[in-house]
Amino acid sequence: MNPTDSKQRIAQLKLLQAWETHTARLLGGWLPAIRLWEAKHEVGLHLWQDLQSARELRTRLWELRINRPDTTSVTTTVLPVIKILASAQHDFEAIAGAYLGIKKSLAEAYRTYLTQTHQTWDAPSIDILTRIATQKESQIEWAEACLQQIAPSDSEQHLVQRWTTYAQNLISASGGITEKNPAPELPTPPPGYSSLLPFGEAKRDSRFKVQLHGFERPPIEDEKAHTLWQFVSYTMEMQAAETLGSVLWEVEGMDWEFYYDIARHCYDECRHCKMGEERVRELGHEIHEFPQFVGNYAWRQLYDPMRRYAMLTYIIEQDSFALKHETYKNYVRLNDHTSAEAVLYDIIDETMHVRWGIKWVPKLIEHQKDSLSLDGILSECRQAVLDNSLAPAQRTSAKK
Ligand SMILES: [Fe+2]
Ligand SMILES: [Fe+2]
Repeated sequence: MNPTDSKQRIAQLKLLQAWETHTARLLGGWLPAIRLWEAKHEVGLHLWQDLQSARELRTRLWELRINRPDTTSVTTTVLPVIKILASAQHDFEAIAGAYLGIKKSLAEAYRTYLTQTHQTWDAPSIDILTRIATQKESQIEWAEACLQQIAPSDSEQHLVQRWTTYAQNLISASGGITEKNPAPELPTPPPGYSSLLPFGEAKRDSRFKVQLHGFERPPIEDEKAHTLWQFVSYTMEMQAAETLGSVLWEVEGMDWEFYYDIARHCYDECRHCKMGEERVRELGHEIHEFPQFVGNYAWRQLYDPMRRYAMLTYIIEQDSFALKHETYKNYVRLNDHTSAEAVLYDIIDETMHVRWGIKWVPKLIEHQKDSLSLDGILSECRQAVLDNSLAPAQRTSAKK
């Protein structure tokens, strides 16, 4: 390989950013079906890290005078592989395909690029790729440990092995991450492997009891019960992360920035969930003591991704501010500084989420060629939240 060949470097960077973006979409699509709670949190973080890596690569490409890296030849190389790997039949296979298949090949491709490129001329790429490669390697290390935990039996490990080998063969047939597809035919998956995505229900691991409905909100004067309700409710935001994961997967062909914003939104909801978990623990409880709700994820899946996203941003998140501000003021009054600050951080994130909704919903309507106007869609979405939401606080807010 010739280190002075900038054309070849650019072609590789274009492919690498596309692999990062679409691997994150694949993880989003699988997020609801991953059973282990801690694994959901990790995958939510990793898909955001992947989109951040894609952004750094795209910025570098921009410096190299490539404004539109998503050319047809790039997407026709990456997308078929991603779609086939989505047809894993178990969460442990999906994780094996994404991490031991794609991410391992990506990490190797970054390391190879680093040894081959010109150390002075291409130094800004070296800085970026070194960081991304290191992060990728720690993601892979996590996945290796996770797969031991979620696929403990011999037969499950056999499936992990089989799907990993298949994923690796598939990726090499597609050109091995940094070459465009040289093989006209990709190897086919084992018989019976067709895509289970999108998932109609969100899975929880065996430590949780699952129920469809949310808890009634206790009176705010009942300080202890209200604070516990508040932070247990935050743990239910995993459902929002899962809805956003499904949107990340199901919406195809949008501007790249859309995927960047959705990935961050998805990760933020995982964070809100974790914030709830940590505070519940500080209050002397474990989250497994409380049933997890999965009903709101399930009914939202009955709508197309644009409506799902509009319900979340324009209705549910937009309508939640009144209650959040009231709660914040109450914690300040009670001198509960920790709870107040947690709610404040949440309000800050939610403000950003609503802004993204305002930015992307009209573009999604256009993209989907929906016959209704924005107003029409929003009144439909408001009615849907009123009719279906299984969280009493969401229904009360939507009525106002
Ligand atoms: Fe949230
Ligand atoms: Fe949010």
